[in-house]
Amino acid sequence: MNERLIVVSNRLPMGDTPSGGLVVSLHDVLAASGGCWIGSHPEAGDDHGAFERIGEEPYQRLAFRLTQSEMENYYLGYANSVLWPLCHRRPDLVKIRPAYREAYEAVNRRIAAMIAHEVSPEDIIWVQDYHFIPLARELRKLRVTNRIGFFLHIPFPVLADLSIMPQAETFAECLAHYNLIGLQTREDVARCLEMFRDDPRAEFMTDGSIKFGEHVSLVHSFPIGIDAKAFEDEARRELPDVFGGASPAPFAIGVDRLDYSKGLPNRFRAFGTYLADLRPEHTRPCLIQIAPPTRLGVQAYEDITEELQGLTGKINGQFAELDWTPIRFINRSVERARLAHLFRMARCGLVTSLADGMNLVAKEYIAAQDPADPGVLVLSQFAGAAEDMTEALLVNPYDIEAMAHRIDEAFRMPLGERQRRYRHCLEVVRKTDATSWAHNFLNVLRSSLKALDLAFQERELQPFG
Ligand code: ADP
Ligand code: G6P
Repeated sequence: MNERLIVVSNRLPMGDTPSGGLVVSLHDVLAASGGCWIGSHPEAGDDHGAFERIGEEPYQRLAFRLTQSEMENYYLGYANSVLWPLCHRRPDLVKIRPAYREAYEAVNRRIAAMIAHEVSPEDIIWVQDYHFIPLARELRKLRVTNRIGFFLHIPFPVLADLSIMPQAETFAECLAHYNLIGLQTREDVARCLEMFRDDPRAEFMTDGSIKFGEHVSLVHSFPIGIDAKAFEDEARRELPDVFGGASPAPFAIGVDRLDYSKGLPNRFRAFGTYLADLRPEHTRPCLIQIAPPTRLGVQAYEDITEELQGLTGKINGQFAELDWTPIRFINRSVERARLAHLFRMARCGLVTSLADGMNLVAKEYIAAQDPADPGVLVLSQFAGAAEDMTEALLVNPYDIEAMAHRIDEAFRMPLGERQRRYRHCLEVVRKTDATSWAHNFLNVLRSSLKALDLAFQERELQPFG
């Protein structure tokens, strides 16, 4: 029987406009290679332990349902009120409730049992993100010996924050059940290895792998990317003008889920400072911020929405004129073709995350530019993308003045320098695209041996030191 790729993630793409980095990259990968994608149905319900099969094209989708209580406790609760803030350096936003942890464990157990029924011996299983960290452990309990890989799309938490997590000691143990642990950046890998080094149950082997009980895992970085070619093509397509012939030039653009990790309040403040102190006289620059709401029901997301509405009102109130609105704050999704077009028109792309696994918007902004007259990417030093896109205008998103100066620099940058920086960034975007991300990850996963405890004996690895 042939190998089949089974991808598991909480989010399953249902509509035409995938939003969120995970879905965007994996959609591109699976659309090209085929396989099967397991994820949650957007509507709550009871699946009675069986997947719902949704179409075969361009890949098969198998949906499980989350009950209302699972939505609240597993998804909004443990995943997005414990793990998300913890990994994004916001321990102050962590909410610890026993019901969250119980639901998280229970959903992982339930989905593992459903997958165990679905899986064939040659299948390769690729688990995505923080919603499913214990999934491999649960699958192994059910004697699933297939190769199982894990990719964390968000930053790996710092050691000091890990101990805030309920049952923190199970975090390393759960990860160790994967043959391969994939992370976005070399810095993430360093933090993950630090966690294992700190754990007396883990042993480092001479080949760099980690032995944990009877399991052997590899930890490696695989920077995620986009379908660069498709996005470059998309951005070149002519679209009807949305500005009624009067485009607000020059303008900066931001496109983010409305998440506190994206640093939007500081971005707005920096734009306000730029308008007040640095903008050349008689110019009317705009910031177009597209930010659809996300994870409603978690207080921190409601708070950030309110804060941004207040800031928009304040800055527009201070600077707007009858025919000029400096900040256009749009709380909706925009179709990808329109997004690509807007990126191409924008003189400056703003990515100012306080913490971010990679940030695909940074890569999309670059891919969308016109090589003859490219715009400038202002990129937070705390986004994973900054590790390789070193020729973007890197910025500390906590430093409002510095960001205002970066916006000014982007608007004023001479063509030659814009092109040089763009070419460097584009090379990175093309080199680390979605296909090579998946290809590199799966190649390493395939080269790991199947039954890990056996693999350990066969390879006769020696503990290091
Ligand atoms: P995250 O995964 O945290 O949401 P990324 O920047 O890595 O952040 O990925 C976001 C993806 O979602 C990008 O592909 C981006 O184009 C898309 N996206 C974000 N906001 C919107 C929006 N308002 N409309 C359409 N697509 C969006
Ligand atoms: C990030 C996470 C993904 C998640 C996406 C959208 O990219 O890494 O796992 O799917 O945000 O968030 P949501 O909660 O809407 O799935």
